[in-house]
Amino acid sequence: MTFRRARPGDGATLFAVTGAAVAGLAAAHYPATTIRDWMAGRTVAEYEALIGRHWLVVAEPGVLTRLFVRPDAAGQGLGARLLEIGVAFAAADGQGPVTLGATLNARGFYERHGFRFVRNGTYRHALDSPEIAIAHMALSAERAARRAGAMAGVLAQLGPACPSPAKAGSPEPRGHDPRPAAGPTRSPRRQRPTP
Ligand SMILES: CC(C)(COP(=O)(O)OP(=O)(O)OC[C@H]1O[C@@H](n2cnc3c(N)ncnc32)[C@H](O)[C@@H]1OP(=O)(O)O)[C@@H](O)C(=O)NCCC(=O)NCCS
Repeated sequence: MTFRRARPGDGATLFAVTGAAVAGLAAAHYPATTIRDWMAGRTVAEYEALIGRHWLVVAEPGVLTRLFVRPDAAGQGLGARLLEIGVAFAAADGQGPVTLGATLNARGFYERHGFRFVRNGTYRHALDSPEIAIAHMALSAERAARRAGAMAGVLAQLGPACPSPAKAGSPEPRGHDPRPAAGPTRSPRRQRPTP
C-alpha cells in the first residue's frame, strides 16, 4: 500500500470518499436526517480550494481532521495507517497533545489507538449544515511525540507539506513537488474539530 499527498483534481474523490464513509460506516450512530444532510454545505470546489491552499488535512499541528476510509476498503488496516501518519504530522511540532473531534462510530477506533475521551460536543460545518454529535478526544503529548519520532522516516518520504511562513518566497528544495498537498499538511495549531 502506498500513500501520497492529495493533488489538484483529487477534490471530487475526497468529497466522494467522505460521503461514502459517513453513509456506509457512521449511519448506525446518527439519525437518518443527519446522515442524509451530512455533506450539506460541502462542495467539491471547497475540497479543491483546500487542496490548493495546502489546507485539506487529515492532520495539522495539534489537531487531526478528516480521516475517512471508503466502506469497501474499511477493516483492512488502512485507517490505522492513516491515523499513524496523521498523528505524526500533527505532533511534529512537539508542542503538546493531539486532539480530534471523533464521529460517534469512530470513538472506539481512536481509543484503540491511545486517544482518551475528553467530552461530548457538536460540530456544524456551515450554518445550514446539520449539527453533528462528536466526541472530543486527545492523545497525550508524550504518546504523540513518540509516534512522531517513530514515523519520522515516513514523514520525510511524504515531503514537506507547505512552506513555513519563515521560508515563504525561498526556493523549493530539490526534488520537492511544488503541487499543493493534501492528506497530512501543517498549519498553525487550532482547536476546531472537523469530522
Ligand atoms: C473509523 C475508520 C477511519 C477506521 O478505518 P478502518 O480502515 O476501517 O480501520 P482499520 O481497519 O485500520 O482498523 C484498525 C483497528 O481499529 C479497529 N476499529 C476500526 N474501526 C473501529 C471502530 N469503529 N470501533 C472500534 N474499533 C475499530 C479495528 O478492529 C482494528 O483493530 P485491530 O488492530 O485489533 O485489528 C473508518 O471506519 C471510517 O472511515 N469510518 C467512517 C468515517 C469516520 O467515522 N471517520 C472518522 C471521523 S472522526
